[in-house]
Amino acid sequence: MPSSSRTPDKVHIFDTTLRDGEQAPGCSMNIPEKLRLAHKLADLGVDVLEAGFPIASVGDFEAVQKVGREVPVRVAALARSTALDIERAARALEGAQKAPRIHVFLATSDIHLKYKLKKTREQVLEDAAAGVALARKYVGDVEFSAEDGGRTSADYLIQVAKAVVAAGASTVNVPDTVGYGIPEEYGALIGQVARALGPSAIVSVHCHNDLGLAVANSLAAVQNGARQVECTVNGIGERAGNCSLEEIVMVLKTRADRLPFTTGVKTEQLFPASQLLTEIIGVGVQPNKAIVGRNAFAHEAGIHQDGYLKERTTYEIIDPQSVGVPESRLVLGKHSGRHALKVRVSDLGLSLDKEQLDELYTRFSALADTKKGITDQEIRSLAQDVVGNFGRKIA
Ligand code: KIV
Ligand code: ZN
Repeated sequence: MPSSSRTPDKVHIFDTTLRDGEQAPGCSMNIPEKLRLAHKLADLGVDVLEAGFPIASVGDFEAVQKVGREVPVRVAALARSTALDIERAARALEGAQKAPRIHVFLATSDIHLKYKLKKTREQVLEDAAAGVALARKYVGDVEFSAEDGGRTSADYLIQVAKAVVAAGASTVNVPDTVGYGIPEEYGALIGQVARALGPSAIVSVHCHNDLGLAVANSLAAVQNGARQVECTVNGIGERAGNCSLEEIVMVLKTRADRLPFTTGVKTEQLFPASQLLTEIIGVGVQPNKAIVGRNAFAHEAGIHQDGYLKERTTYEIIDPQSVGVPESRLVLGKHSGRHALKVRVSDLGLSLDKEQLDELYTRFSALADTKKGITDQEIRSLAQDVVGNFGRKIA
């Protein structure tokens, strides 16, 4: 069926900024900081907010407890597939405002079984189902994650997926824990799991970014049947990070012509959420980061500035205000052209005739060749000089 004629399917956004995100070096948050960000994530409209790993520390336990009690959003708590972890997660979720989720995980790849768990496939299958069954005694919403699922044999992964669904899991997550997958391969694996489970559970994905493919892999998974994406604001997370929330959401929104999916995210809150996270953890994003980077809506090249000034969509595929960025920026530097300079001169309230503008542009270009960017103050003083030379005062 052509995508345009299909009713868009909802893709659930599972935010793990407060759990996987804060596991990244330099990204930890204390409880008040987690609460502040959690309120913002609820405003953003995420479907599930993973607030921590209660067995890991008292701080994580209290963060899950406070977020669950104070923030009007479905909160998830992480637990290994052991009674101690699951009971601790259940305790932390007591009193949560919205029906909470216990997120049970256990590795399923041969490499993890052999070197980390030292268990057989049969033992892991049993432990996974037992963990889910125990979690279901505490909450109605249980997710199971097959850690290193991306490197697990499809047959075994499907066996585990069916067993945890039979034990009561309503979401089955197939993480690419080490960011090893490539879109075609990972998408095909997700397709196999989704077909095997049918409507019995939501298939979820959780992609790490070790090869820079976390968003591409998550997208391929959605195209193959996944209906939950686990992601983080600014893409923070273990090692090279997780799938970036703002990127996957904006891919689905911007390319709705080819991707018949919706999310509940209020995209105008994406940039404010990114800014708040940066303020809290003190770790910013690179300037060229898609959607929320400082240069994501900045134009310096003359040809681009000229096109943009004639019609924004010549060089912008996203309206900056739709993601909460106040406006695009025209950066004046050595690549800039006359058109942008003329607009800036007028924005600065200066009035120059054609000849003066030409002279200003010559001086501007010479100065721009010597440094990284030209400030408005520098433009004012260059303009002052030009007008002085022409024997007139400027406004
Ligand atoms: O990367 C991973 O496998 C995880 C799981 C705990 C979901 O973070
Ligand atoms: Zn992870």
